[in-house]
Amino acid sequence: MDTLDPRRRQILDLVEQYARDKFGAPPFAADRDLVHYAGRVFDGQELRCATEAVLDFFLTANRFAERFEADFADFFGAPGAYLVNSGSSANLVALTALTSPKLGERRLRPGDEVLTVAAGFPTTLAPIVQNRLVPVFVDVGIGDYTALPERIAQAVGPKTRAIMMAHTMGNPFDLDAVSAVVKKHDLWLIEDNCDALGSTYRGRLTGTFGHLATFSFYPAHHITMGEGGCVIAAGQSAEELGRIVRSLRDWGRDCYCAGGENNTCGKRFSQQFGTLPSGFDHKYVYSHIGYNLKLTDLQAAIGCAQWQKLPGFIARRKENFAYLRKALAPYEDRLVLPVATPGSDPAWFGFVITVREGAGFSRTELQRHLEERRIETRALFAGNLLRHPAFLDIPHRVCGGLANTDRITESTFFVGVYPGLDAPRLEHMAEAFRGFLKKR
Ligand SMILES: Cc1ncc(COP(=O)(O)O)c(C=O)c1O
Repeated sequence: MDTLDPRRRQILDLVEQYARDKFGAPPFAADRDLVHYAGRVFDGQELRCATEAVLDFFLTANRFAERFEADFADFFGAPGAYLVNSGSSANLVALTALTSPKLGERRLRPGDEVLTVAAGFPTTLAPIVQNRLVPVFVDVGIGDYTALPERIAQAVGPKTRAIMMAHTMGNPFDLDAVSAVVKKHDLWLIEDNCDALGSTYRGRLTGTFGHLATFSFYPAHHITMGEGGCVIAAGQSAEELGRIVRSLRDWGRDCYCAGGENNTCGKRFSQQFGTLPSGFDHKYVYSHIGYNLKLTDLQAAIGCAQWQKLPGFIARRKENFAYLRKALAPYEDRLVLPVATPGSDPAWFGFVITVREGAGFSRTELQRHLEERRIETRALFAGNLLRHPAFLDIPHRVCGGLANTDRITESTFFVGVYPGLDAPRLEHMAEAFRGFLKKR
């Protein structure tokens, strides 16, 4: 890579300058601009890094991916971080890792149960089904939108082997209760941390409580690479799980040489695998039925620039959340406003609202009012996933009913708190809520 070529510096400076001119946002105009629920927040640095990766032209994961993985692992105190091409891929790889033959008797087998929620994102559930495991659904609270702790304890049956669920909208699920169940029944725990990068529970980062945690870098998330995701492993099995994750991501191969390396294990031509010829090239030994879920160095380069901004992004999300919470407090008689799980400090993904029964208006009426004022609203993902065509016939168990999950399907939506929402946009949002609620 020719980083000293003066033409390279010239190109990079020009790109940064172009980005400033092209993407520098004019002041918000309420009659013209959308108030997005989420979006990319970036400046010349992201374009500069992306251009660096283009000029390297290594294309597949390289120096930027290595740097990102190292910084990310450090942040979480994890032995490794494994970049993948989306949060959905992260979930697929994490759950599939627990089915690895390398785990021996500890591996998940078809028919084993995994506790989760139906009020979630489809690709938290999909890998459970895809691996022929049986999801067991518990209801969530209205206001915090995370699994009801008492239900988790009740839901454990003789076939239950794992828990996999998300810190919904950045709000940590009750990690005291979940960790106690995990410990008592010796379960695996996967934290889908896709919406919660930077959230803490009792001062500790979410994503470090489970055996595995997943992240998404789609543009709606706390930092973005366009498309991208990551898996980290923690605890005693972290090294072992990390190697399995990497294998599943990298075609299922047994070899764990970094790109461009040839004999990291020092045993490339001296091992015996099954009936393969003795010393068969380890680079081409497959110990998992894997995928290729790697990302490009261009995506990772954008991630490296975003990474520098994460502390500021988290702070803004919290401030924006606090602003909306205060502005909507007078309407709590008709709206259930979001609450943080006790002991947590969420890096909020969005501001979730449930319209109370007897409010005198429907969720759709309120959403329509906001959308007409160019304020984007979104459903809390799928509502009840079990009511969607793809999941109607899946083998599953429900523990204790899903009354709140169904209520979310009818009465809940969210608006944004992402760092791109500045004071004028937030004021416009608050005013739009006031305009609707004062008249009712
Ligand atoms: C909780 C949760 N898990 C997983 C995902 C999937 O991430 P991706 O869109 O990067 O595949 C999302 C996406 O928003 C999500 O919200």
